[in-house]
Amino acid sequence: MLQEITEKFEERYQQKPVVVRSPGRVNLIGEHTDYNEGFVLPAAINKEIYFALAPNHTNTFRAYAFNLEQEAEFDLGNVHPSDISWANYLLGVVAQLQQAGYDVRGFDLVFGGNVPLGAGLSSSAAVECGLAFALNHVFDFNIPKFTLVKMAQLAEHEYAGVRCGIMDQFASMFGKKDHAVKLDCRSLDYAYYKLDMADYRIVLCDTQVKHNLASSEYNTRRLECEAGVALLHQHYPAVTSLRDVTTEMLEQHTAEFDPVIYKRCKYVVNENNRVEEACQALEKGDMKTFGEKMYASHSGLQHYYEVSCPELDFLVEQASRLDTVLGARMMGGGFGGCTINLVKLDALETFTRQMEAAYQRQFGITLKTYVAEIVDGSSLAETEIMPHAQV
Ligand code: GLA
Repeated sequence: MLQEITEKFEERYQQKPVVVRSPGRVNLIGEHTDYNEGFVLPAAINKEIYFALAPNHTNTFRAYAFNLEQEAEFDLGNVHPSDISWANYLLGVVAQLQQAGYDVRGFDLVFGGNVPLGAGLSSSAAVECGLAFALNHVFDFNIPKFTLVKMAQLAEHEYAGVRCGIMDQFASMFGKKDHAVKLDCRSLDYAYYKLDMADYRIVLCDTQVKHNLASSEYNTRRLECEAGVALLHQHYPAVTSLRDVTTEMLEQHTAEFDPVIYKRCKYVVNENNRVEEACQALEKGDMKTFGEKMYASHSGLQHYYEVSCPELDFLVEQASRLDTVLGARMMGGGFGGCTINLVKLDALETFTRQMEAAYQRQFGITLKTYVAEIVDGSSLAETEIMPHAQV
């Protein structure tokens, strides 16, 4: 696909592009913790978006979406949200760069890839990070990678309307081959954990549903967490996010909570602890304990945070019946998308066959499964294309 995208660029724009790749992500554990200043454990995967890009010496940005076979053109002197939804992820990044004072000159772009849309693998973060990386490279802005991550996140807030945390964009940019990365979403300290994949594989089961509640409920969860923080802050002035909250604090003040807010807070506090415990298990090579934490995470997301759905619950329940699966949970924002499963390598085929059959019987939908390989974050792509385009 990389080759096709590059060729499409050359055919449309008659010059050689810079080519950048930017991956989607999985999250092993630590869900809905990022915007609560907690911990996450994502990894970049071999589902990627490719960008062929070069300056065009005008004040116009011309884009071609390879998968959709659609084109669009925008005046860089007047960037604002568009009614072409795919273009907003790109425009959002351009707007962030402009707001930060960078002179984004005219450029041409062909982009596309194989990150399934709406599957919770962060195709949008891959698009945002990829474009930010490519423009930074082509125009020599020298913006540090963390700043690019934050710009990509704000692009999502302002041009896609989802007040996402930092996890997806961070994972897409900072991923490392064969490693998961634990991020402290408060300090932004991070540490890589080697995933010993000799005996296991990460398998994604794509429900292929996306309940349309997803983004409105996401923003509601953020508000519910903020309500919990406001309550506890009255008793503990040092509490400024759920990251600061302990189980004891919650127990002390249970009666004052709206029951729904209580459940949300309880989940987040527990999930942060689980990320720590899961990382300790990884360090010891104790994949069994790691898998148990994944199941516990799902249970919390299902019953306390209430962002799961029948399709996800069914898949996790089916997986839990197989002793070749160490752990499974819904992944990402919820209300559809994928489950992530830690499966014994020698049982991969049986696993996919059984899951497909069960899902077909239950919902009449053909399950899609992907074996995720863990790759590096956004980078220049290795192509045979010769000299890079110059400004
Ligand atoms: C989405 C958001 C992330 C994160 C997850 C839930 O993927 O983009 O920032 O909040 O949901 O963990």
